[in-house]
Amino acid sequence: MKFKNKTFQISCDGGAATGKSTGAKMISRKYKLKFLSSGLLYRYASYLIIKFKPKNEIKFIKQKFNKLNYKKLNKINLHTPKISELSSKIAKKNTVRVILKKYQKNFSKKYKNCCIEGRDISTKILPDSDVKFFFKCSLNIAAKRRYKELKRVNRKIKFQDVKKALRIRNISDIKRKNSPLLKHNDAVSIDTGKLDKKAMLAKMSKFVEKEINKKYGN
Ligand code: C5P
Repeated sequence: MKFKNKTFQISCDGGAATGKSTGAKMISRKYKLKFLSSGLLYRYASYLIIKFKPKNEIKFIKQKFNKLNYKKLNKINLHTPKISELSSKIAKKNTVRVILKKYQKNFSKKYKNCCIEGRDISTKILPDSDVKFFFKCSLNIAAKRRYKELKRVNRKIKFQDVKKALRIRNISDIKRKNSPLLKHNDAVSIDTGKLDKKAMLAKMSKFVEKEINKKYGN
């Protein structure tokens, strides 16, 4: 299926380290959709605050996001525990969310065939997306996953600290007033504790194919 001149959008939401990035990237590659990690945007905004300590944080972030080259974000290490912690703090602020929402909305207008992952994609950013996925797994599995990644750059990191940080971040993301993490009514659950990568892609593909057929025929 080629989406030339057609629109097809997928939203992927879920808690921290639930495997949503992996799932979203795999499905994007398979169906040639432009991929965006909105978490990276929150992480980049935090990085800017930590690095430049601007007096007016909102004005500074706004300026930086107006000329943001998303590809460059992959060259910065945005997955440090300090950045993760600040990201969930600034994500509570409506002023920050408005700036990042604008960036994501522009992305989805520019790339009509796209897949965005985050916390509020199916509820706020792409409410009309063709397929909505909600990723989940136990906190223990998520923590093991994140611990393995962080251990590569910091050998001293402790599993219990990683797990605690994930739990705090998830609670904050679920309980906040602005755009909390929640499962959209239409979202399909993807339990990454039960599925390996191959099975995850197979399950996601099944729902994608179904929607493609419904929308565009074979
Ligand atoms: O997805 P990731 O864990 O990289 O996101 C980092 C933080 O950014 C989250 O804990 C959350 O507070 C915030 N975020 C958000 N809305 C999104 C994506 C991320 O609030 N759509």
